[in-house]
Amino acid sequence: MGYESARLSPETNHTIGKVIKMAKRITVAVMGYGVVGSGVCSILADRQEKNTAYAGCDVRLKRILDIRDYPDSLFINLFTKNFDDILEDPEINVVAECIGGTGVAYKFTKALLEKGKSVVTSNKAMVAAHGCEMLEIAKSNGCHYIFEAAVGGGIPIIRTLRNSYACEDIKEIFGILNGTTNYMLTKMRSEGTDYSEALEDARKRGYAEADPTDDVEGYDACRKIAILASLAWNRFVDYRDIAVTGISKVTAADIAIAGATGNVIKLVGRCRMDNGKLYAMVSPVMVREDNPLAGVSESYNSILVNSDNLDNCMFYGRGAGRLPTASAVVSDIVDIASGLRPIYYDWNQDNVAKVEEGDEFYSEFFIYVESDDIAAAEASVKELLRSKVQQTEIKDATLGAKAVAFTTGKMRYRDLKVSLDLLADMPGKGKVRLCMPAVL
Ligand code: HSE
Repeated sequence: MGYESARLSPETNHTIGKVIKMAKRITVAVMGYGVVGSGVCSILADRQEKNTAYAGCDVRLKRILDIRDYPDSLFINLFTKNFDDILEDPEINVVAECIGGTGVAYKFTKALLEKGKSVVTSNKAMVAAHGCEMLEIAKSNGCHYIFEAAVGGGIPIIRTLRNSYACEDIKEIFGILNGTTNYMLTKMRSEGTDYSEALEDARKRGYAEADPTDDVEGYDACRKIAILASLAWNRFVDYRDIAVTGISKVTAADIAIAGATGNVIKLVGRCRMDNGKLYAMVSPVMVREDNPLAGVSESYNSILVNSDNLDNCMFYGRGAGRLPTASAVVSDIVDIASGLRPIYYDWNQDNVAKVEEGDEFYSEFFIYVESDDIAAAEASVKELLRSKVQQTEIKDATLGAKAVAFTTGKMRYRDLKVSLDLLADMPGKGKVRLCMPAVL
């Protein structure tokens, strides 16, 4: 099936939805009582009446699996350390996997789906690495594998792509997809907080992954953009094929350069379908201060979807944190309880989408060149890039005395690199201090 084909599988099973709808009760287990899992339990308990009224059947939390002890938890009687208490309990028909990672979470999810128990999850690592396999198993066993909370935290983007974009031809998706790094970049810019302190703060707030390398090196955003691309073009996109640059090398000096040139640095994930070719990347980008993405701060995420009829739609909300993410998990449980038709997508491990090399990505770029002779370096950049480049004012006299800044028009990164490599040997001997994609 080609990229542009309909997003929903023709084999979508209508019958299962009806069977689940007729259930008198949705009995839920939560695996992992960490940041998200504990939030799911709280929301299920607090909103039991509301969920039940909406779904038309009782939605009840029965079990919580965790190897840790929580003697002070309100749910003390529901805890178990034995996975079989969930797997072998015929009453439990929906399980929220909030364990994270692809170790035990993989083993448990697979066993549950094979038993015909639906699994909802916030675990983007699982969806990005094993989504094909889990959807296949769910399909064979007539149950759901759904993951609203895996992308954008509390933003209902997956449901929206599934429903509101069913008849749209999506051209491009880009956005701020990681709450931790967005929080860090916001703090570093607005309060001058240093990198490690900003990261520690994000961890304390429950935004960061168990291994925050996933956040700061861009792997978390990469998994999310891979999931969005897979949904947009209904073909599995392997996150390992996407070029990634994180924020670990973004310095206070870079942030000052951004400020002096009217920009904000954001970590952005992008994917684009162009003439049947799929481009995707994750990297820090320079966002013009007057672009709506620049105002997305703290742990907020924002996702912009460009499609043929709807044009640009931007989705904005809390991208990380206990309750926003838990709310998205619960929304999937309530959807299942309400009789959602299982949707399996045409993801297939044997037919993975080809992602073009990172250097092929075309974009506007921000370039900041240092030189002892800025007039000569400026002339050299203009000679190399001609009409493709526009100078940007540096509103800081100290920085402006030894550097020039530019924004290019849309061009391939590969072509830009070839030109910039020549700069050091041209008049002014310009040194490219910063070069990153720009969002104007
Ligand atoms: N660590 C992730 C983030 C959590 O910061 O966005 C939500 O996926």
